[in-house]
Amino acid sequence: MAWDADQYLKFEDHRTRPARDLVNALPPIAPSHIVDLGCGTGTSTALLRVQFPDAQLNGIDNAPEMLAKAANMNLPDVSWQVADVAAWAADRAGPAFDLIYSNALFHWLGEHELLFPQLIARLTPGGILAVQMPRNFEEPSHQLTIDCLNDMGLSNLIPTTWLQGAVGLPSQYDDWLRPHSLSRSIWTTTYYHRLEGDAPVLNWIKGAALRPILSALNNDQTVELEARLERLLAQAYPPMDDGAVLFPFTRLFVIAEKTP
Ligand SMILES: C[S@@+](CC[C@H](N)C(=O)[O-])C[C@H]1O[C@@H](n2cnc3c(N)ncnc32)[C@H](O)[C@@H]1O
Repeated sequence: MAWDADQYLKFEDHRTRPARDLVNALPPIAPSHIVDLGCGTGTSTALLRVQFPDAQLNGIDNAPEMLAKAANMNLPDVSWQVADVAAWAADRAGPAFDLIYSNALFHWLGEHELLFPQLIARLTPGGILAVQMPRNFEEPSHQLTIDCLNDMGLSNLIPTTWLQGAVGLPSQYDDWLRPHSLSRSIWTTTYYHRLEGDAPVLNWIKGAALRPILSALNNDQTVELEARLERLLAQAYPPMDDGAVLFPFTRLFVIAEKTP
């Protein structure tokens, strides 16, 4: 799946806020070894570098085009690695980390009941798992995309993670993590992103949620899908008096401390 780093970064301020909120919610810790899973262009990694200037910091992502941007950030002493996080999590022989941090990745991956205990297994005793995941599969942004793909005869391109609602209920994360952790803090926040310019919601989802779909379409299909979505999204997210749109976006946060 090809990512478009420039499209993703168009809304960098908005997309960085939950990453910052997750860093600010960490308990007082002094981790030596940190990994940022799904580090993308390095925006979240930069926040970790500021918070933990002396830690050994690793950024992992499976999109070389995103890591190329990350490498340009000139962050001191960050080790960047192209890898699939699902395989990384399942690797029981890999090194352990004091802090596993991940902002806006795990909604792309399924089987969280297996994945989250695997992540805990890659922590040192007493280590911290800190995760933020969009939880908006039922919003018009996703449901209208599903409708359009169905109408265009492209149902096969609807991501299974959308249909299955890859991100579970808060109580499920507590259930999955409780046997392996001393404490858990779980909450949701709904951000109201104020977006300006033409087709703002379409432009937002083109930078992230639509990536797997757009990368599978030919030019004609892309033009048709974007035209349909632009019209429908403008109705679902009407502009305010000044022309801007308030785009609601719910995110689930999970912080767990591994049993020492
Ligand atoms: C929405 S971006 C978040 C980037 C960064 N964490 C931030 O806060 O700016 C999601 C990232 O997850 C990466 N990604 C998606 N699936 C992945 C996988 N299976 N393994 C590793 N990275 C993955 C994408 O390449 C993308 O860079």
